[in-house]
Amino acid sequence: MIISNMEQNTFIAADGTTVNRSPNHPPLYRKLYIESYGCQMNFSDSEIVASIMAEQGFVFTDHYHEADLILINTCAIRDKAEQTIRNRLLVFNQQKILQPDLIVGILGCMAERLKTQLLEEEKVVDLVAGPDAYRDLPRLISQVDKGYKAVNTFLSKEETYADIAPIRLHSSGVTAFISIMRGCNNMCSFCIVPFTRGRERSRDPYSIVQEAQKLFEAGYKEVTLLGQNVDSYSWHPAKTAAATPLHHGSNDPDIRFAELLAMVAEIDPKLRVRFSTSHPKDMTDEVLHTMKAYHNICKHIHLPVQSGNSRVLKLMNRTYDRAWYIERIHAIRNILGPSCAISSDMIAGFCSETEAEHADTLSLMDYVQYDFSFMFYYSERPGTLAARKYRDDVPETVKKRRLSEIIAKQRGHALMHNQKSIDQVHEVLIEKYSKKSDAFFQGRTSQNKIVVFPKGSYTIGDYVAVHITHCNAATLFGTVVS
Ligand code: SAH
Ligand code: SF4
Ligand code: F3S
Repeated sequence: MIISNMEQNTFIAADGTTVNRSPNHPPLYRKLYIESYGCQMNFSDSEIVASIMAEQGFVFTDHYHEADLILINTCAIRDKAEQTIRNRLLVFNQQKILQPDLIVGILGCMAERLKTQLLEEEKVVDLVAGPDAYRDLPRLISQVDKGYKAVNTFLSKEETYADIAPIRLHSSGVTAFISIMRGCNNMCSFCIVPFTRGRERSRDPYSIVQEAQKLFEAGYKEVTLLGQNVDSYSWHPAKTAAATPLHHGSNDPDIRFAELLAMVAEIDPKLRVRFSTSHPKDMTDEVLHTMKAYHNICKHIHLPVQSGNSRVLKLMNRTYDRAWYIERIHAIRNILGPSCAISSDMIAGFCSETEAEHADTLSLMDYVQYDFSFMFYYSERPGTLAARKYRDDVPETVKKRRLSEIIAKQRGHALMHNQKSIDQVHEVLIEKYSKKSDAFFQGRTSQNKIVVFPKGSYTIGDYVAVHITHCNAATLFGTVVS
């Protein structure tokens, strides 16, 4: 669709009407700059947004100062995440002073959490769209084109964007994310996600397989299946009224996550399959057996524990206790052996957590010996169960000290795991040039460990066997042996 006309200094808005532009800023086409924050799902959503905007004739730029439209896909998980966005808006406000017809839109979880409040608090913002409102972006933008502010934070029970082919942003052409579900039905008491992403819904498995197949045909070698709780993935063809054209018919059997994993793994042995996130209460042995059955399903499970103490886990409403979690770790070790990497998320200083309960988190870490972890201190989120029911009573200095103890322990475990890899040979998928030198490549092992090695005559996207020679806590180093 043509959206601009240089001579007449007008452009056609998304709804077909003609809009005048400022005479000193007459672009031939409109340029879009997208910035993404938060989890992989948000980055994946930005690729859906990119696809919707490309349909409208927008082209992409990596430089916000040359954009006509800036979209910020935001995260609300911790207060700090929101402060980052507010600071970014100060920068974009400066740009808007230079370029008054610049449109600034807030997408994602912070948009959903704050809704119209964002327009009141941040004058630079023209548009607010929640995670289920991206199909409406063309209409919202045309509303802004006409001089109004625009908001859509409606949460859907069905939207999965299954039919939208994402445009891969900042991709090396080797690895890609595929969202297999949206929303979350768990009510972890600390967590804002159920409020910002709505009810859980699974995406048509055939559309997932088709997307992965197309990526493989385009040269991609790894897909990561994304969901807040992939183990509760479930597709019931018979119960789903809004079947897509890919849907095989109402007699199809129910498809659970283990089956979906196998369907994607079957595409080709050279296509690696990863997934995230697994919830300890839902992770089944069936998934572990499926991982074992396919070499190309990567041997890494992200199984966030949050706390090692059962009382705190209960307050967190995680619906498992320490013993249950340890049993799940045993299941992984029994079925997949010691070579399956396990990672976690941890929250330090949740409401009423005592020193002894914090020590339980440290002792659980010693027991499991995670390969890596994402570690945070508790940040109260307005409207969550914890904010309503419990006092955020652990002083910030204590939270930070507990977090630093968790981080120090994790660093020790990561280094220990990496040192064990020395003198081993690992299959590595080459993803990109190493950050430090173009003479080196960087890739990952099946266990999700980053490996850096001299590039030799190989190319990005190749699988190579790398002999590990040395390491630090974050990276393995080695040389290609085949
Ligand atoms: N669905 C995933 C988690 C998504 S949020 C799961 O259930 O594991 C990613 C991580 O952010 C969480 O695992 C948790 O460790 C952290 N997190 C969520 N809310 C938080 C809060 N209010 N304060 C601090 N960390 C939080
Ligand atoms: Fe949040 Fe819990 Fe859902 Fe994860 S499972 S997104 S922590 S509510
Ligand atoms: Fe953040 Fe929303 Fe993801 S709150 S972590 S971007 S689901």
